[in-house]
Amino acid sequence: MNQIQLSSLEYHRQTEYRRNSMTGHSLNWASQPDVYKGYDGISSIPLCQGKPLENQDLWQMLDRKSPMLPPDITFETLSDILHLTNTLTAKVRYPGQDFYYRSAASAGALYPNEIYLAHDGILDLNPGLYHYGIKKRVLYPLRRQKVIQPILDAMGFQEKTHVVSSLLITGIFFRSSWKYRARAYRYVLLDAGHLLENLILSLQYLSIPFSVHYRYPDREMNQILGVNGKQEACIAVVHIHDDSKPDQERKREELLPLPETILQSSKVSGQEVVYPEILGIHEAGMEDSGSAGAGMPLKHDLGVTVQHWQEIERNGNRTNGVLYPDLLYRRRSKRNFISHPMRLDDFHGLLDLVCSSYTSVEKKKDYAAGLQIGFLAGNVDGVAPGFYLLNPYDRKIGLVRTGRMTGFMTNACLNQDWLANASVHFLFLANLRFLDRHWGARGYRHAMITAGRIGQMIYLGATALNMGACGIGAFYDDEARVILDLNEESSLLYLVAAGVVKRI
Ligand SMILES: Cc1cc2nc3c(=O)[nH]c(=O)nc-3n(C[C@H](O)[C@H](O)[C@H](O)COP(=O)(O)O)c2cc1C
Repeated sequence: MNQIQLSSLEYHRQTEYRRNSMTGHSLNWASQPDVYKGYDGISSIPLCQGKPLENQDLWQMLDRKSPMLPPDITFETLSDILHLTNTLTAKVRYPGQDFYYRSAASAGALYPNEIYLAHDGILDLNPGLYHYGIKKRVLYPLRRQKVIQPILDAMGFQEKTHVVSSLLITGIFFRSSWKYRARAYRYVLLDAGHLLENLILSLQYLSIPFSVHYRYPDREMNQILGVNGKQEACIAVVHIHDDSKPDQERKREELLPLPETILQSSKVSGQEVVYPEILGIHEAGMEDSGSAGAGMPLKHDLGVTVQHWQEIERNGNRTNGVLYPDLLYRRRSKRNFISHPMRLDDFHGLLDLVCSSYTSVEKKKDYAAGLQIGFLAGNVDGVAPGFYLLNPYDRKIGLVRTGRMTGFMTNACLNQDWLANASVHFLFLANLRFLDRHWGARGYRHAMITAGRIGQMIYLGATALNMGACGIGAFYDDEARVILDLNEESSLLYLVAAGVVKRI
């Protein structure tokens, strides 16, 4: 049977939730996926414990204009990067097993994403490709040869700076589709965005130059990682650069074949189900339409019009609360919102972070341009309740329509009633046909990963300001579209609620 190919619009429409046509889906606990990837017969390398890290104000950290220092990448630095990107933060005891939460949010706590590290060798770490084992804080060596040049060759990487290391994020589809079935591709991408934002922040914190890539040839990259692209697939690539060195010609070694234990390790359950919609959109996205979207102006073609734009006020020193990286440990999904107004300063602080996050990844590549950000102001001091759009490049907000809409949106979010008390519902929106036209089906990846990235930033900002946030992927898609009065081609992709929470 030939694999179907789906556009962004087709996939999103085919995986909509509709109030009166939700089919009950009871979870098959016998096929519950393993949330940790393991490798039989491969001995792991423990990561460094590292020195205690200095705490910094998140806003000052992002504003830092000082030139990026050339990285002195040691094994300790790599350990810190991985640790700051994702780590276990809380334990819950269930009969028979302990469950661990992590520093990056994940829909349903299913943790579909994995991280791999490629390095050409430093003291204490031989050249190779490694998998990050989050549970034991270890690296599993998968390839014991230099892999940076094959990665750069596969990507046709032209830039002149020297790449010292690459971090690759993948997604294991069945981890999420076990619960969310065909809709799971949305979550695998959003979750990857949450993780990627933590990775980007860790590099900004450590003043390490980097570049982020959503475009690469999938088949070659999957092959290097030893994943088959159907159970597990590469989602994003981050290079760490050393600006002080011109790129050196590296000798290209032939990649050696990987053993079966590694090739089979993406299998996370004895009874995996394949959802053709997931492979349909993912594989359609492999036919990368290159840089078709590069240079696209930010276009609000959602079918709504902004009445007037106003600048976001910027306040300097903001946090009296939690500092980075401590806030990574404190970040949790909070649902205990109270109907207290959010302070205007705090709201501007969050908007500031959203703008920084949106514009931080290589503007010229325009990965973010297909994603529109808006918000429903419900209960913010000095901000009229209503639907607004955000222009992150000019740091402006534009009123679309006044009126308290967070209650209606709460109903659309499968009546998750606690959402009604959140002060703001941040909205991630896209004209899906626009994505398809300019980036092909891969545009869906760009928009969803970017939405997840900014969602993670909202969580961290809310934590820093002693507030709460919660990502929402469960909504009746058609109802959300009607509430916002979007055109037929446009949709809500993701919602993140933020607001004042009850102090426990
Ligand atoms: C993409 C995404 C979608 C989510 N959707 C919902 C949702 O619809 N309802 C909800 O209560 N929580 C939702 N969450 C929150 C997750 O359930 C939460 O991140 C997970 O249980 C892990 O807990 P933690 O965030 O406290 O670490 C979502 C999170 C993400 C990242």
